[in-house]
Amino acid sequence: MKVVVLTGAGISAESGVPTFRGSGGLWKSFRPEELATPEAFKSNPKLVWEWYLWRRSIIANAEPNAGHVGLVELEKRFGENFLLITQNVDGLHQKAGSKRVVELHGNIWRVRCLACKAVYYDYRLESDELPLKCDFCGGIIRPDVVWFGEALPEEALDTAYTWASSCQIFVSIGTSGTVYPAAELPHIAKIKGAKVIEINPEKTPISSIADDIIREPATKGVEKLLSIL
Ligand code: OAD
Repeated sequence: MKVVVLTGAGISAESGVPTFRGSGGLWKSFRPEELATPEAFKSNPKLVWEWYLWRRSIIANAEPNAGHVGLVELEKRFGENFLLITQNVDGLHQKAGSKRVVELHGNIWRVRCLACKAVYYDYRLESDELPLKCDFCGGIIRPDVVWFGEALPEEALDTAYTWASSCQIFVSIGTSGTVYPAAELPHIAKIKGAKVIEINPEKTPISSIADDIIREPATKGVEKLLSIL
């Protein structure tokens, strides 16, 4: 039996990482939709980097919670038949010990140089000079994350589609189910005959197709999931 888990910002909420939508998601009164765009970076790269360095400093102090840890246990249980797909860029799944993680929206600790195209990990939390500059050529670097209006990494998306189409159980945890193409994955799984399980304290568009709904925060919800799978 193949099991796919899709996670969103909600799984990291109990680790203190703010979600994008809903209360606590605002930074200096900017909505993420105003900052996580190529246009915002072009017009004000310093502001966008300030926001990402703020997010990095929160994530740097965050520890994986029981939800992340429970998914490590699920990976051990199902082995090769388990895939974790995340929209999160915080790296907390890997910090918890998950090995096979598909990152659909990139990683906040990775950067990409707009000039020489170098891609590398950068763990700075502050800098006197913003935007940050490339270690190799001095060009402007950006976070290697997917912004609104940008394509998702092709290989990650292909893997996600393949697994969503061929799994028997698809679990959605802590995502609003509103940002495509990730939001499409539970629907693909459902059409292909998988059982869809949702863990989310709030109703989402995924709720209407879910076979089982665990209306709990991720920590409690994953504990329940482990008891039923
Ligand atoms: P959202 O912020 O849109 O949604 C968070 C979801 O988590 C909501 O449905 C909440 O009800 C739920 N939630 C809150 N606390 C929870 C908890 N303790 N346990 C479980 N669920 C909880 O985040 P995403 O759906 O991840 O993309 O957002 C999708 C994408 O939009 C993000 O990856 C990011 C964002 O803009 C890009 O930056 C491209």
